[in-house]
Amino acid sequence: SAVPVITIDGPTASGKGTVAHRVAKALGWAVLDSGALYRLTALAAINRGLAAEDEPGVARVAETLDVRFDGPHIYLEGKEAGHDIRREEVGNFASRVAAFPGVRQALLERQRAFRLPPGLVADGRDMGTVVFPDAPLKVFLVADVVARAERRCKQLIEKGISANLDDLLRDMRERDARDMGRTTAPLAPAADAHVLDSSDLTIAETVQAILDFWKRAS
Ligand code: C5P
Repeated sequence: SAVPVITIDGPTASGKGTVAHRVAKALGWAVLDSGALYRLTALAAINRGLAAEDEPGVARVAETLDVRFDGPHIYLEGKEAGHDIRREEVGNFASRVAAFPGVRQALLERQRAFRLPPGLVADGRDMGTVVFPDAPLKVFLVADVVARAERRCKQLIEKGISANLDDLLRDMRERDARDMGRTTAPLAPAADAHVLDSSDLTIAETVQAILDFWKRAS
């Protein structure tokens, strides 16, 4: 496909989501929040009372997932789910079932369908390595785990969700280890990715760095 894609991969709370949205806005492109698809799968599975160990059950949920993205709104089975999928419980469940090859396979074509003119900014863990390996620009966004836990804590509190820094730090380390350690599509930079450390960058500086990469790449 000739439609350009910028992939932004990285660990949880590295700022990928915010950065991806701003890069997409600057270019007038669409955005794919692939983590939301894993979170929606998790939420649908939790709603059905499935256990995170139930690989065939959760894979079936992923295959038949009824979701709709409408600007900032995300619907699961016709119901607004944008708030619920951000819960830590849902993120942890998502990170566990994301290790199942059947779940990843079920979501693959769904993700590729977002690649439409004039372009797409895709954020996740394996956008540059698995989903869009031919992307003309790949960014791997990293940040120190303490900086990420602090950001997530602040975000949650701003949204009125209670949060504890030590718990977040522990969950984040577990999730990083799981995302990097799994056999299928582990979190890792593509060989041709630009690794960008945002620990000491503002969001605006991070966005600008990516737009500069794109200017040079295109
Ligand atoms: O990015 P976010 O925290 O919303 O993703 C939730 C979980 O979904 C991650 O911890 C990760 O395990 C999984 N995920 C994935 N591949 C992606 C995006 C998310 O495995 N492309």
